[in-house]
Parts: sequence; structure tokens; C-alpha cells
Amino acid sequence: MKTGLTFDDVLLVPKKSSVTSRKNISVKTRLTKNIELNNPIVSSNMDTVTEAKMGIEMARNGGIGIIHRFNSIDEQVSMVTSVKRAESLIIENPYSVSLDTKIDEIKFLMKKKKVHSLLVSEDGKLQGIITSRDIRFQKNGKIAKEIMTPREKIITGKPGTLPEEAKEVLDKYRIEKLPLVDSENRIMGLITSRDILNNINRPYASLDKRGRLLVGAAIGVKDYLERAKALVEAGVDVLVIDIAHGHSELAITTLQTIKKNFKIEVIAGNVVTGEGTKDLIEAGADAVKVGVGPGSICITRIVTGAGIPQLTAIMNCVSIAKKYDVPIIADGGIRTSGDLTKALAAGASTAMLGSVLAGTDESPGDLLIKDGRRVKIIRGMAGYGANMSKRERENMSSEVFDIVPEGVEGVVPYRGSVKDILKQLVGGLQSGISYCGGHSILGLQQNAEFIRITGAGKKESGSHDIGRF
Ligand code: XMP
Repeated sequence: MKTGLTFDDVLLVPKKSSVTSRKNISVKTRLTKNIELNNPIVSSNMDTVTEAKMGIEMARNGGIGIIHRFNSIDEQVSMVTSVKRAESLIIENPYSVSLDTKIDEIKFLMKKKKVHSLLVSEDGKLQGIITSRDIRFQKNGKIAKEIMTPREKIITGKPGTLPEEAKEVLDKYRIEKLPLVDSENRIMGLITSRDILNNINRPYASLDKRGRLLVGAAIGVKDYLERAKALVEAGVDVLVIDIAHGHSELAITTLQTIKKNFKIEVIAGNVVTGEGTKDLIEAGADAVKVGVGPGSICITRIVTGAGIPQLTAIMNCVSIAKKYDVPIIADGGIRTSGDLTKALAAGASTAMLGSVLAGTDESPGDLLIKDGRRVKIIRGMAGYGANMSKRERENMSSEVFDIVPEGVEGVVPYRGSVKDILKQLVGGLQSGISYCGGHSILGLQQNAEFIRITGAGKKESGSHDIGRF
């Protein structure tokens, strides 16, 4: 019988390093065959982890978020749209209102769409612009025409204006927005100073070719076509086929159908064996997600008796995926930057995180107080809570005893902003790469030498024999 190992069973053997500062270590990587990221961290498609807010912050900081599918198609599409519209070098379809739109409608629209300005148009032609400053002290009852900055006072650019040119114009006239119009005054786009500043200040953000943040979304293996179509139309960058036992005919058929019908990168999983990896890659997977039962909220291994400890699972899948040059995503069980380093050293290109990110400002859900400490809820997507909500939403009978949960509900400590968590994870990973004598994730993988440790070694690895605050 083979032995399965996980993160706590091993350590990485330190090697001679020529690194002078860990800041010089690159953590760039590939999420899929054709998508690159500036750091290897992916937020999990769980309903207590990734919605639009998390998606935006993950991509702004170099990773990516995968929007969960425990919602209606419209809800999921609206979250994807929020991420795709959060930043962009050129906003191609800026929100606009007509000349007679009332001020309360304008306020409602700005709030709903989370924007600070709206163009005013008639038959697609620019008539004016309204910013939140214009409406701040205005009485209800007025209409757009009465409060907008009119067309003759607006500086505009031509379609095709480059961001560098726009920057000069915005700077010269000290304006915040530059609408782009053609020779007949038709609205062709909008460039904002905020987007240009974001682009300058965050060179490490994960962006598509049009300067928009990258985002992924999960789909299931039933009724998935309509959802996939809507997500692709909304501009999603990658779809994740979200199924606990990914080495299944259902997952393979779904993958083949999606690849046949849409031009989109697809991550398939979850698997833990070389055979599973091979079948998914041959069915068209652009990356394979690995993990059966390692997650913080998972009880799959207890309920079914099946699974493979995560480090061995990653190694099994990497050994096959390497031959096809397809990236592996290590999904579940990562608690620290040390675990992340081990997962990547074992050959994964990225790691998907749930519980580590569930306690942040950007995860869905409210802050609660438990035993005097601030916490947030996390729940397994195969648990009672998530399944009961799904049944309620889909008007299915909610007979509790019909469900055999493979996940649990719990709480995680509140941990502040996701940006700070990512900084700690990436900093720890960079140090880990340096300890292994590498300068990049590839270097880490080439140099990695694992040593198996005992319970005593593990005990020695944490702080010990001191009083804790
Ligand atoms: P961590 O350890 O990062 O793991 O919190 C997150 C991953 O756990 C998986 N997941 C589940 N696995 N039952 C399971 O067996 C569940 O109910 C469940 N919900 C999430 C998922 O792969 C996630 O990314």
C-alpha cells in the first residue's frame, strides 16, 4: 500500500542562496495554459469567500478570484460584470442617462452601478456629463439637463486615444473624465483619471488585454450551458468546472461541451491522481485543480472514506500534467505561507485558498462576535447550509435528511484586508523560495528537496515551551 503525505509531514531542505533581497524574487506564474498571474494565489469559489468585492481585490493584488455558483445566473453575471468594470484603461460602454432623467434616478443608478459619474446622451450622442459632485446638494425634482456640465464645456478625445495621451489631456485641463467621441459626437468610450492612476500605481495587478481585472467563475455539471454562455458574454476570463469528484464522465462531458462551444480557458477538477489528470487534460482542460478532502471545511474523507493527502495528490497530478505543459492548481488545506511554498515546490503553479481568505473585509457576510472575538462565517459548499440555501433558491423541497453533507459550517477569525493577507503570504513564499536557493517559482520547483519529518519534528517547528499571549 502506498503512503500519502501532506504539508505537515514534510519540510523543504534549505539550499545555498544568492538572493540579496526577497523583494527581487519573482512570484509570477501561470493559472492556465494562456493566463498569467503576478502571484500564485486564487480565491476559492465558495459563497463565504468569493463574490465581486473579493474578485476585485484579488486581481488588483496580482492574483485572481473565482466567483462561486451558488446563486442565480443573473447574480453571478452581475458579480463578474462588477469585477470587469471596476478598472479599465478605456471603458467601452460607459453608463449614460437621458436628458430628462430625474436626480433621484441618477443617484440610484450611481449607487447601484458603483460609479461617480454618468454621461448624458441622446441617440448615443454626448450631451453632457454628471458627476457625484454635481448632485450632492441638488434638490430632488431636477433633471439631468439642468445639472449636467453641457457638451460645449466638455473636453473630449477621439476613439483610439492612448492612455498616455489621455493622461496628458487630463493633467493639462485638470479634469477627471475624458469621454471619447467620433466625428459625429457619438460616444465611443470613456477614460478616467482613476483608472490611469490605478494602472500606474499597481503594475502588478492581474489585467486582461484591455486593462480590465481578470476574473473567473464556477459552473456545475448540470444545466451549465446557459450559465457558461452568460458568463462568457459578461467577459469572464476563465471558467472553473466545480465538482468534488472531477474524475467522472459528467465532468469530462461538461469540459468537452464547454470547449467545443466557447472560446474560453477552462479549469477542470478536482482530481488527485495521474489518471484523473490525464483524462481531464485530454478532454481539453487548460489547468487541472487538485484536492479531494484537504479543505478546512471538508469532511469528504470522513463521509466517503476516499481522498489522498494533499502533498502526494499534488505530486501525482504534477507528474502527468508536466508532460502536457498544463498548470496544476493546489486546492485546499493551505493554512500558512509555508504550506503555500510546499504546494508550489511540489509542482503546483497556483494555490486556491478558502479559509485563509474567508475572514477578510472582502469576503461575503457580516462580522460576528464569538467569545469576545470578531469572526466571520465559512461554510463548505457540500454542507447543509449551502445546500439548503440552494434548494430554497431553486424552490426544491428542503428535506434535511435527503442531504448527505460532505462539508461543515464554522467560523474563522476576522483578519482585516485581503491585501494585507496576500502581502504576508507572498512575503513568506518569497522567503521560502530563497531558502530553497531559487529566484522564482520555477527555481523553487527545480531545487526543491523534501524531507519527511516525525511528530517530534513537527512539534519543534512551531513555537513551543513558552507562554503564549
Ligand atoms: P481551505 O482549506 O482553503 O479549502 O479552506 C478550500 C477548498 O475546500 C473545498 N471545499 C469543500 N470540500 N466539502 C469538501 O469536501 C465541502 O463542502 C467543500 N467546500 C469547499 C474547495 O475545493 C475549496 O476551494
